[in-house]
Amino acid sequence: MTDFEARRRTLLRLAAGLAAMVPVRLGADAQSSSECRRGGDFFLPLALPRNRITLGNGVLTLRATSQQDALAFFANDMRNPTLVAASGASASIDLVNALGEPTTVHWHGLSVDTRNDGNGEAPVAPGATFRYAFPIRNRSGLYWYHPHPHGATARQTYRGLFGTFEVEDDDELALRRALGLAVGDSQITLVLQDRRSGDADRYAPAPEDELLGWYGCVPHVNGVLRPYHDVARTTYRLRILNASNARTYRLAFRDDAGNGVPFHLVGTDGGLLEQAVRCPEVLLSPAERADVLVDFARLAQGRYVILETRAFGAMQDVPRAVVEDAQHGHARVESSLPDGAPFDLVQFRVRGAASGSAPIPQQLSRLPAVRTSGEDDRPLRLGFAKGRWRINDRVYDMSATAIDVPRGAAETWLLRNYHASAPHAMHLHGFQFRVAARETSPEQIAAMALDDRGRLATDLGLKDTVLVWPGESVRIAIDFRTPYADDQIYLVHCHNLEHEDAGMMLRVRVG
Ligand code: C2O
Ligand code: CU
Ligand code: CU
Repeated sequence: MTDFEARRRTLLRLAAGLAAMVPVRLGADAQSSSECRRGGDFFLPLALPRNRITLGNGVLTLRATSQQDALAFFANDMRNPTLVAASGASASIDLVNALGEPTTVHWHGLSVDTRNDGNGEAPVAPGATFRYAFPIRNRSGLYWYHPHPHGATARQTYRGLFGTFEVEDDDELALRRALGLAVGDSQITLVLQDRRSGDADRYAPAPEDELLGWYGCVPHVNGVLRPYHDVARTTYRLRILNASNARTYRLAFRDDAGNGVPFHLVGTDGGLLEQAVRCPEVLLSPAERADVLVDFARLAQGRYVILETRAFGAMQDVPRAVVEDAQHGHARVESSLPDGAPFDLVQFRVRGAASGSAPIPQQLSRLPAVRTSGEDDRPLRLGFAKGRWRINDRVYDMSATAIDVPRGAAETWLLRNYHASAPHAMHLHGFQFRVAARETSPEQIAAMALDDRGRLATDLGLKDTVLVWPGESVRIAIDFRTPYADDQIYLVHCHNLEHEDAGMMLRVRVG
């Protein structure tokens, strides 16, 4: 039985017991194990891997390996390297599958064709090699790569197969020049992943985890448990990727006096915003990226600032019978913090004399104009039925294309989440999109809105993943112009990886 079938059967069994529809609220108010709170408070330095590989001439060999328990990609002896490419360059990457199971590499956020999308429909067999070769059509930004073999995406990604992919262009270089940013020094990538304690690489979701998502207990930043980092008194750029399976972060900074430290958001999934936006906090759901500037020059030497995730309502409302059945016969999910639990992530210690901070440029970039058409919105309803999370009442079927889009179309999709549901981090392959509006948002989200369309700071840039809360409707505008001939198959899915593996995913044909 494949992972996928096993999971499906579990959820079907759960649903069989579904009777009462009384919602049970799991979230920040749930009891969390004391183990989760314990230890590791800023004892270890933040790891700043110098493992960058610039793609250019020639073919890069990327080996998917299994070492003891952990999985990792290796290229040029570097573990999970950061791949760097200029916008307009081309990438040629040989995936060598040295795992004992099929895998793929999906280039999350990059506008590639189906052959290069690693979407899991043509997995690379153990021992086989597959050459990915594609032009870099995206703007500068922080993208990432991870496996996508259906039913095993969550496990393989959690166990260590992922890395970041930076695209550079003139806007990117201009921003670095203007602020005097040095990569690996005042410009740092932070990868967030919550892990379970104990056996570090164990991935064994109980039925409750499969339903709600695999939530960890200990926050890792760049693979280190709650690290510290010494910073100079100047502006730092933090490019943050949420590589967690299921957890959403409500990211904010606070100083040692407990006061919030506002920052500027300068970029999202698909690169730089037009203008920096001053924010007290941003939400970051699985797979989303936030590019932020923090000014440490305002703080005296010896002080510190903590990047934290603040409390929020997890809003995981699934039928009580389903949850109880999931919990039945299983120990309460061991050492996991529920979604929305607050905790600290990394401590920045201010060191050295002030070197000042340059002003943020007025115009960071230009976004492509939003194309619209007179066509009706395409609805995508997100909900739970018959034991499965679903889109338009359907689950993933490799032999059925649920959504047909004429190439070149300008479409608006209406992502509508039911009230008794969970937040879903909806991701589209192949295309970046714009958030046009959020409607009927829950109170905690409406309170963070910046404009009269209910949008949040992170909604103002190009996006490939957007979090849709229970009861909320999010309208997104997608430009389906593509240079690729023939029909191209893409996927739209929830990036809560447990939801995705259980089938909350549809095929989209663009042709
Ligand atoms: Cu990052 Cu289809 O996924
Ligand atoms: Cu993707
Ligand atoms: Cu979901």
